[in-house]
Amino acid sequence: PFEDTVVVAVDGPAGSGKSSVSKAVARKLGYAYLDTGAAYRAFAWHAQRAGVELEEQASVVSALPSFELDEATDPDHFFVRVGGTDVTDAIREPAVTGVVSLVARVPDVRAALTAIFRRIASETAAPGIVIEGRDITTVVAPDARVRVLLTASEEVRMGRRSAELTGYSPEAVGEQLKARDRADSRVVDFMTAADGVTTVDSTELNFDETVDAVIAVIQSRS
Ligand code: DC
Repeated sequence: PFEDTVVVAVDGPAGSGKSSVSKAVARKLGYAYLDTGAAYRAFAWHAQRAGVELEEQASVVSALPSFELDEATDPDHFFVRVGGTDVTDAIREPAVTGVVSLVARVPDVRAALTAIFRRIASETAAPGIVIEGRDITTVVAPDARVRVLLTASEEVRMGRRSAELTGYSPEAVGEQLKARDRADSRVVDFMTAADGVTTVDSTELNFDETVDAVIAVIQSRS
């Protein structure tokens, strides 16, 4: 149950290294891992396929009852399925990335997904779970034992994103990242640490150092 599980809440902007760092932390500690952005992406994929008008909030909401999400929490075997269809790769496509902010801004969507995240966390058999997203420290799990805001300078975030994505110019990647941060930060503030949230700035850290910094925060809370 939620109360017995160590919850590690990690928020941060796109390109902060949130996902890979959270996954590595979960692996090292034998914890479960929940990528909430993947669930928003999966819902965007579903809404698109359901043919809803993505600009119309009421239309987006109409796709919620038919949304059947199956998301893995094993950091070593990650997958996302929607109604039996594997969408693990499809949700990373620009077609989904470009519209996910439109569904993420809808309050009913956020409430429904938040309930799903809390249920997944409460059902995990692992001793802990690392939940990663934009509003985990503030909305999904404000009472988490450990709450971390992972940041990095815009320049470093853009550099990391373009290294991940082959075939796109650094300028195009930078523009998309900035546009998404702008759209997303209208919905939730993931750039400033809320009360009691520890900021880990990875601008000057490599991957392993960032993982160690997050683990140090967790250990300081145990
Ligand atoms: O972390 P990501 O890029 O996979 O997130 C996909 C989108 O979902 C992103 O545009 C912001 C949104 N999101 C959100 O609004 N709240 C979360 N907890 C996680 C993601």
